[in-house]
Amino acid sequence: MKIGIVGSGMVGSAAAYAMALRGSASEIVLVDRNADLASAHAQDISHAVPFADPMVVRAGDYADLAGAGIVVISAGVNQQPGETRLALLGRNAAVFREVVGALMKVVPDAIYLVASNPVDLMTYAVQRFSGLPTERVIGSGTILDTARFRVLLGDYLGIAPSSVHAYVLGEHGDSEVAVWSSAMAGNVPIAEFATQTGQHLTDEKRSEITDAVRNAAYTIISGKGSTYYGIGAGLARIVEAIAGDERAVLSVSTVTEEVEGVNAVPLSLPRIVGAKGIMAELRPDLDEGERAALRKSAETIAGLKGAIDS
Ligand code: 2OP
Repeated sequence: MKIGIVGSGMVGSAAAYAMALRGSASEIVLVDRNADLASAHAQDISHAVPFADPMVVRAGDYADLAGAGIVVISAGVNQQPGETRLALLGRNAAVFREVVGALMKVVPDAIYLVASNPVDLMTYAVQRFSGLPTERVIGSGTILDTARFRVLLGDYLGIAPSSVHAYVLGEHGDSEVAVWSSAMAGNVPIAEFATQTGQHLTDEKRSEITDAVRNAAYTIISGKGSTYYGIGAGLARIVEAIAGDERAVLSVSTVTEEVEGVNAVPLSLPRIVGAKGIMAELRPDLDEGERAALRKSAETIAGLKGAIDS
């Protein structure tokens, strides 16, 4: 499958690199307002291809995206140290109006995968500006927060993160909801697993992990300016689920009809991702506190939709 990536900064290029190493596609076309940057990244990444599966990695312009099955949008500005994702909304909405307009002329049939922040609202923007069905406009959402949650839980419990089944839902941002009530180690509830193995998931430990997940991006940005490897791998994973029609359950964002009484809100739930994009969504059992937090997260996002609608 041919993949287009619009916005070839650190996130777009890290996604391309992850896709190249994982063999997620047959061709990647990098597009950027700065054509020299796209070309330099494409060359650099193509030099990794002899160490992976054959693939074409090249730079191009919008016209070169014709025939792409998936277009990743990672264009726009990213956070400065201490800045929230939501603070980027106005600036990135303006960029997206232009980008989506250009893309609809060339690749209206693609599945769109949105990575720029605030990612839930940018996903909403792509859906609004394109008029595409919601199942074909997917935001990376909390796929990264879910990965962070699994890494931290796995580290604490001493098991592989891939054997931790736990999700972060809602906004990819400060109001996100780590779902502890249904988190499992293998097929054992994590609290039970912790007790069996002589560890204790105290309230304090849970808060420590939840805060570390929520604040991971702030910590990384203050250390090195931006985050890109984790999200790059997450984007490659979503691309593979679509390209291989995997029907994998991933926590990704899209405009959702109703969540905890909030309508038409873009946020993450566990969703089945395959050839048609989002093929179904899961509604996990949540405890009272998680439901209230998810409602608050949905309200936070919904309250900002006006910046895109206007
Ligand atoms: C992240 O969570 C900044 O949204 C980006 O790494």
